[in-house]
Amino acid sequence: MKIFLDTANRDEIRQAAEMGVLDGVTTNPTLAAKEKKPFRQQILEICEIVKGGAISAEVVSTDYDGMLREGREVTSWHPSVVVKLPTTPTGVRACHTLSREGIRVNMTLVFSASQALLVAKAGAYFASPFLGRLDDISHDGMALLRDILTIYKNYNFSTEVLAASLRHPLHVVEAAKAGAHIATMPFKVFEQLFKHPLTDRGLEAFLKDWEKARESLGDIVEAIPQSGTRKTGS
Ligand code: E4P
Repeated sequence: MKIFLDTANRDEIRQAAEMGVLDGVTTNPTLAAKEKKPFRQQILEICEIVKGGAISAEVVSTDYDGMLREGREVTSWHPSVVVKLPTTPTGVRACHTLSREGIRVNMTLVFSASQALLVAKAGAYFASPFLGRLDDISHDGMALLRDILTIYKNYNFSTEVLAASLRHPLHVVEAAKAGAHIATMPFKVFEQLFKHPLTDRGLEAFLKDWEKARESLGDIVEAIPQSGTRKTGS
């Protein structure tokens, strides 16, 4: 499963990218507005940090011509840019047009299996069901994700399912178990994926024991043979 960050914050994106586990970024107008910087500059900086990743940039037009204009514009900025369109009838129509031009489209704000079916038929590159927002209103977001994956499998759609609006690490794990192609998450959730109290406690104990026996154990770095001095055949 690919891991995307759901943020436009450069520091967060850089930290995750440096770990070598980041495949892309999803921005949206709310996230971009927090950064107080020209949108084009934000997107280009993110593309430079996540080299070869898929970086979603969302349009704000709600009419067909405006969506096409913005979609063509943002995808001309950098080859990594994927245009994000809302799942409205106009958005689906624009998705169809842009996809036929070879532009990658991420259809966002997907809340039902029927919407997911339509965006796949329109040629969407990614379909983004918002799991957390469904859970927030007592609907089962994970059940929707599973339904979409079943439908796409039944008909061999190539659209990738991007599990979005994830609120906690279990959302990520459940999305992976269901077979989502991608999970996008806020940086806080990304950090939580690493955490386990037994890892921290275990490491603390290892280091304490080593410190106690340091005299007899010696320096581990010096114990590693220099290149060319290692004996072979023993
Ligand atoms: C995805 O592309 C969206 O930006 C995002 O996942 C929305 O998440 P939220 O419900 O936490 O705002």
